[in-house]
Order: sequence, then structure tokens, then C-alpha cells
Amino acid sequence: MINEKLELPCGVEVKNRFLKSAMTEGLADSDAVANKKHNNLYKKWAYGGVGISVTGNVQIDHRYIERAGNVVIEGEQSNESLAALADWSHAGTQNNTHLWMQLSHAGRQTPFSINKESAAPSVQPLPTLGGILKFGVPKELTHSEILDIVDRFVNAAEIAKQTGFTGVQLHSAHGYLLSEFLSPNVNQRSDQWGGSIENRSRLLLTVIEAIRDKVGNNYPISVKLNSSDFQKGGFTHEESIEVAKILNTSSLDLLEISGGTYENFTALEIDSLNLKKAKTIKPQRSTKVREAYFLKYAEAIKSVLSIPLAVTGGFRSSEGMNDALQSGACDIIGLGRPLCSEPEIINDLISGAKKSATLYENILEFGPWIFGLNSPISMMRSNNKAAQVYWCYRQILKMADGKEVDPKLGLFRAFLDHFRDDAANSKKYKNHWNDLS
Ligand SMILES: Cc1cc2nc3c(=O)[nH]c(=O)nc-3n(C[C@H](O)[C@H](O)[C@H](O)COP(=O)(O)O)c2cc1C
Repeated sequence: MINEKLELPCGVEVKNRFLKSAMTEGLADSDAVANKKHNNLYKKWAYGGVGISVTGNVQIDHRYIERAGNVVIEGEQSNESLAALADWSHAGTQNNTHLWMQLSHAGRQTPFSINKESAAPSVQPLPTLGGILKFGVPKELTHSEILDIVDRFVNAAEIAKQTGFTGVQLHSAHGYLLSEFLSPNVNQRSDQWGGSIENRSRLLLTVIEAIRDKVGNNYPISVKLNSSDFQKGGFTHEESIEVAKILNTSSLDLLEISGGTYENFTALEIDSLNLKKAKTIKPQRSTKVREAYFLKYAEAIKSVLSIPLAVTGGFRSSEGMNDALQSGACDIIGLGRPLCSEPEIINDLISGAKKSATLYENILEFGPWIFGLNSPISMMRSNNKAAQVYWCYRQILKMADGKEVDPKLGLFRAFLDHFRDDAANSKKYKNHWNDLS
């Protein structure tokens, strides 16, 4: 049941079965240091009742970030940065909440506005998506650069522990660097980091064990993994099961399952933003219709796991959540978007005050015309879903400013405001780091 405790393999106890899935906050200034806004936001979520709160992706290299506003931890941190991280963890661990830092490298999904050159396992550039999302052109990482990436993940994890975060999660889903290494499409290397699935998962496994060496046996380490990239030639469901088997032999504490990449953002049920038609595959739901769209995939992964499994994507009702837990399909329920519109929803679901989160994804409408030209119905629905992410970004900003969320906020307004701010923030970020180098 959703309110039951869970003990992780490292011995740490979680007070219930909810995990706030990582959501990029975009709150840092161009120096990429945490600030008071992070404290406000995570304190709010902590009092909302979640057992494990995972931060938005914190980057390990300022050159390859997901967007301006990310926090970056690389090298030695200033006293100011260490103090800010400690304040953040203090706020986010109130109410007996775990606060885990999600660590990431954006790989070839680094926006062009941040860096014209991205970094990836092989030179496989991403097309411009939705006519507006443009990315850096990747260079192939060398062996020594890959080893440097391992060191960077370890350094950031050590700093997370030192500053009071109660665990870390490696972002190895959604097409960022660690998941690019897993993908046969993106990783076309012929050295020890590419080729067989064992080789493609070597970077992820090396990072886990290197972090474990430094943080000790009692500190939770989690991985967010795609159940599939849902892309022809990409990381398949069968390969995801193979990786789960490999991870099961590692010192991991929790595997979180999601799916898709920027080209086919299944994590948010967005079919494809690629107007040139990415070769995508639609995920199949189980015959018994369930709200969590990766549950069918999670069940197969769960069957090879002895460590706990979290599933994220689509969970909204306490009935659906309890059903998934009771059927043994997963051990933890991941929640993202509902916590942007109803930060108290977990308390309400546990107390029974509400039976379900509000289905904003079915309510908020955008319109087919914004991406122009030939918008068939499916594209229109994708546009709604894509713009809903920006709507969530704006609600996050409100909570971070200590304000209430605004369910009446229009989708178009959120979209425009986001892109206006993102352009300005990206420019500021680039200037800041250019001046330093
Ligand atoms: C605003 C927003 C930001 C997100 N940022 C991240 C992120 O930083 N890292 C990550 O792993 N997933 C990220 N995601 C994906 C969510 O963690 C989650 O997988 C997705 O929202 C599906 O869960 P839901 O149906 O409960 O929203 C983000 C999603 C949203 C809506």
C-alpha cells in the first residue's frame, strides 16, 4: 500500500511508497549555484508528504547542461556553493523526507544556445525538434574524457553526501549521456565502451561502483533507466531487461523506470516532436488498461530484479497506485507533473482526502497552429503535452518564489514566458562561463 514503509538494500528506511521524480527546476542563476528558491520549493514538496524527493538534474559539467538554470557541481566547490547545497538539503529533508540528488550529463541533448558543440559516445547529431529545439553538434568522447566523466560523477556524489543529501540518482534515461551510451543508435563505438550490451552499460556500471567506493555501503544510490527508447534502432525493452540484470548484481538500491528520449518523449506521452518524423515506436500498454504507461515493461524488469523498483509516468489515482504495488509490478510510485499543480497531493492520497490527482494533462489545451504547417491530431496532442512541460516549469517557479501554484495559468502564456526567459538565461549563462574561461 502507498503508505507502507520500505527498507532499501543499503539499510535506509523510506517512510512511504512515493518518489517525487526528478524535475528540472531552472532556478539557479548563471553561476549554476543553488539558492533560496531551491529551499522554498523542496521544503514545500517535503511537507507534501513524499518519501523520496529526487532533485532536478544537477549537472557534472558546466559545458554540457540540460538548460540554463541547472545547478552544476564540478571540481572543488566554493564555500558559498557548499553552504547553499547544505541549506537546500536541510529544507528538502524536513518531515522525514529523503532528498536525493539526480546527477546528469546532457550529452548530445545539450542545447545549441548553451554550447554549439556537445559531447556523445559517437558523432550522431540530434535533429532540430518541434522546429525550435536545436542542439549542439556532438564530438566523440575519447577514452580519457570518459574516465574524466566517471570522476566528475563521483566528485558530485561525494559533495551531495557531504552537504546532507540523503542519496543520489544517476540519470541514465531520456537520451542524456548515460543513456546515450546504452543506445546502439547513438553509441557506435568499437572500443570497450560500445558494441555489446555489456560494453554499452560499462560506463553506467563503472560510475555506480566508483560512487559506492566513496560513499560507503549505507548510502542510497539509484538509477533512472529507460524501459525502452521506443525508437527504431534504439535501446530496446529486451536490452533494458539485460541492463536491469546487470544492475541487479551491482550495489544499487533502487531502479526507477521511465522511457523515451527527446526524439520520442514517451516519458510524458509525447509521441514525437521531430517534424522530419523520427523513427519512433508507440509503447504498448498492458491489455488490462492501467494509468501508468510503463507498467507492462516494468513487470518484465521486476521479474529479474531483487532490488526495489520504482515506476514513473502516468500514475494519478490511489487505486491505480495500490493496484500496481499489490500486484508486485513495482515497489515505489514515481510522480512528476501532479506535484507541479498539486504539491499536497501525496498527503491527500494517503489520507484518502482525494482519490486521484487532477488530470491537468487532459484539461490544458494549446492548439495545433503554433508549430505551423501540417499538424495532424497526434501532433496537436503532442504539442499540448510538450507545452504542459513549460506550464509545469512556471508552476515550479511560483512555488520557488514562495507563492501558490496557479491552475488557471494558460498554456500559451506559459509557453511564451518560458521561451522568453530561457533565451535570456541561456545568453547570460554563456556569457558568465565565457568570461571565466
Ligand atoms: C517539468 C518537468 C521536468 C522534468 N525534469 C526531469 C529531470 O530533470 N530529470 C528526469 O529524470 N526527468 C525529468 N522529467 C520527467 C519526470 O521525472 C517524469 O519521468 C515524467 O514527468 C513522467 O511522470 P508523471 O506522469 O508523473 O509526470 C521532467 C518532467 C517534467 C514535467
